[in-house]
Amino acid sequence: MDKMWAGRFTGELDSKANDFNSSIRFDSRMYFQDIEGSMAHAAMLGAKRIITQEESDAIISGLAGILDDLDAGRLQFDPEAEDIHMFVEKVLTERIGEPGKKLHTARSRNDQVALDTRLYLRDECTELSQLIFSLMDTICVQAEKYAATIMPGYTHMQRAQPVTFGHHLLAYAMMFKRDAERIEDAVKRMNYSPIGCCALAGTTYDTDRDMEAYSLGFAGICMNSLDGVSDRDFCVELCSALATLMMHLSRFSEEIIMWASWEFKFIELDDAYSTGSSIMPQKKNPDMAELCRGKTGRVYGDLITLLTVLKGLPLAYNKDMQEDKEAIFDACDTVKQCLEIFTPMLATLTVRADNMRAAAAGGFINATDLADYLTRKGLPFRSAYKITGQIVARCIAEGQTLETLPLETYREFSDKFDDDLYDAINIENCVARRTSAGGPSAGWIARQIDYIRTFLTTKKREMEAKYSV
Ligand code: ARG
Repeated sequence: MDKMWAGRFTGELDSKANDFNSSIRFDSRMYFQDIEGSMAHAAMLGAKRIITQEESDAIISGLAGILDDLDAGRLQFDPEAEDIHMFVEKVLTERIGEPGKKLHTARSRNDQVALDTRLYLRDECTELSQLIFSLMDTICVQAEKYAATIMPGYTHMQRAQPVTFGHHLLAYAMMFKRDAERIEDAVKRMNYSPIGCCALAGTTYDTDRDMEAYSLGFAGICMNSLDGVSDRDFCVELCSALATLMMHLSRFSEEIIMWASWEFKFIELDDAYSTGSSIMPQKKNPDMAELCRGKTGRVYGDLITLLTVLKGLPLAYNKDMQEDKEAIFDACDTVKQCLEIFTPMLATLTVRADNMRAAAAGGFINATDLADYLTRKGLPFRSAYKITGQIVARCIAEGQTLETLPLETYREFSDKFDDDLYDAINIENCVARRTSAGGPSAGWIARQIDYIRTFLTTKKREMEAKYSV
C-alpha cells in the first residue's frame, strides 16, 4: 500500500505491523469532526492566502462531498488506511487532485488528532448530559409519587431511622446533579483548540489559530504548542467524571437488586427490564441493574488505562497516545448504554409500599424519636438515650415493639413517660416531624424536587440558547 510518508522509505511496512499501527477501526467514528476540522483549516489557509481561495473552496466542497457519502454509506472506510485523518485526505486527493495535497499545509496529524478528539468528546458530553438530565427527571417523577411512602433508612445495612422512598431516591438526584456539573466543568477545559500547534513546534506560515478556534466554537486556543499536542487531560478528566457517575449508578443498582430480592420485596421490576433463569422457573432476575453495576468496572479500567498510558510520556506526541481513544470511547459508550437502560427501568418499577411500611415497623427505627421524647420532657439526651436502649433490650427480650409495650412498663424506666409517647413514636409522625432542612418531611421533599427541577429547567434553557444561534 502507498503510504503518505513513503518518500523516506525504501521497504514496505510488514502487514501485521500495518494492522498493529492502524487506528481506523476505532477512530473512523470521528469522521465528522475530522472533516469539520479540515474545513475550518482550509478556510483559514484560504483567508490567510497560504493557499488560493479557489483551492480552499475546492477542498471544502470536496470534503463536503466525502461527508455526504460517508453519512449515506456510499463511501466505505478502508481498513488498510492508517487512520481516519489519512483516509479522508487520501480520498480528497483522489477526488479533487492537486488542491487536496495542500490541505495538510501548516498542520500535522498530531494537532489534528488532538482537535478531532476534543470536538468528538465535546459532542459526546452533550449527549451524556441529556441522558443524565432525563434520569434526574425520572427520579423527580418517582420521588413525587412516593414522597410519603415510608421505608426504613439504613446505616451499616441495619434499620436506622424512618425516611420515605421519595427522600431516598432524591439522594441519587443530588449525586447525578454533581455528575452533570462535573461533565460540564470538564467541557470548559476541553474547549480550547490545539489546531495550529502542528507537529509540536508551531509553524513558519502566517496562520490564524484564533480564526480556526472560533469557527469551531472553541473558547480559545491552547497557548503552548507542545502542550496542545500532548495534553490528554480532557480525556482523563471526562473519564474521571464518568467513573464517578458509574460509582453512583452502581450503588443505585445495588440497592435496586436488594430491594427486588425476596428478602426485601420493596420493589418489583417491570418484565421489560428483568430476565428469567434457564433452569429455575420462579426466578425474575435484575440483570439490567447487575450489568450497570458490573460495567462500572470497565469505566474504572478505562480511567486507569488513560492515566497509565500517559504517566511516562515525554513531550510531545508519542504513538502511545493513540491508545487514549479506545479507552475514552468505551467509557462514553458504556455510560450512555447504562443510562439508556437504567432510566426506563426506574420509571417502570413497581413499589411495594406495604412491605416498606412493614419493614419500617419492626426494627425500632423510632428509638431515636423515643429518646427525643424524653429529652423534650427535660432529660439530657445521653440519659434519655440510655433509658431508651434499656427499653429496646426489654422489647427484644419480650418479643414486643416500642409501639406495643404498655405504658406501665415504660414507667418502670422513667416517670416522665405519658400516654402521648405513642404519638411521638408513631412512624408517620416521626417522618412528618423531621422538618430539618434536607430531611424526609413532605415540605422538604417538595423543596428537594423543586431544587432538581429548577436545575433541569436552567440547563434546558442553556442548551436551547446554545443551539438556537
Ligand atoms: N492515529 C494517531 C493517533 O490516534 C494519529 C496521530 C498520528 N501521528 C503521528 N505522528 N503518527 O494518535
